[in-house]
Amino acid sequence: MSKRTFIVFGGLVVVLAVLIPWLVFGSKGDATAGAQDVPANLKSGQELFQVNCGNCHTLYAAGTDGNYAPDLDELLAPNGPPEGDKDTIKATEGRVLNAVENGVNGDTPGRMPGGILNEEQAKEVAAFVAATAGEG
Ligand code: HEC
Repeated sequence: MSKRTFIVFGGLVVVLAVLIPWLVFGSKGDATAGAQDVPANLKSGQELFQVNCGNCHTLYAAGTDGNYAPDLDELLAPNGPPEGDKDTIKATEGRVLNAVENGVNGDTPGRMPGGILNEEQAKEVAAFVAATAGEG
C-alpha cells in the first residue's frame, strides 16, 4: 500500500470510529437514553421516576424499560395518553400517589414497596406519570 493510500485509509478509519458512535449515541448515550422531552414542571418528576421506579417499571416518557413490574403505559393509560384531560390526569395521579406512598401488596415479598419517596417527591412523580402515561 502506498503511503498516501495508507494515510487516506487511516483517516477514514478514524473518522468512522468517531462518527458512528456519535451518530448512534449522539443525542442519548446516558442511562436514560430515550427519555422524552417533558414540560419544565414535570422534569424533576421524570428524573425521580428514572432513578426510583424505572428499574422495575417501563414508562415510555421516562425512557425506562424495567420489566419486573407492570408496564405503566399499558396499566394506567391503555387507551393512550390523557392529552391534557384534567379529570383523567387527576384520577391517575391519585392512583400513582397511593401506590408510591402505600405500596401495592407491599407486605408480600416481591411486590411494590411503599414509602420509597418523601411526600413532595411522591407528588412530583405522580404528576409526571399521570400526565405522560400512555405515550408509548
Ligand atoms: C422493586 C420494584 C418496584 C419499584 C422500585 C417500584 N414499583 Fe411500582 N410496582 C411494582 C410491582 C411488583 C407492582 C405490581 C404490584 C401488584 O400488582 O401486586 C407495582 C405496581 C405499581 C402501580 C400500579 C398500582 C395500581 O393502582 O394498580 C403503580 C402506579 C406503580 N407501581 C408506580 C410506581 C412508581 C411511581 C414507582 C417509583 C416511585 C414505583 N412504582 C417503584 C414494583 C415496583
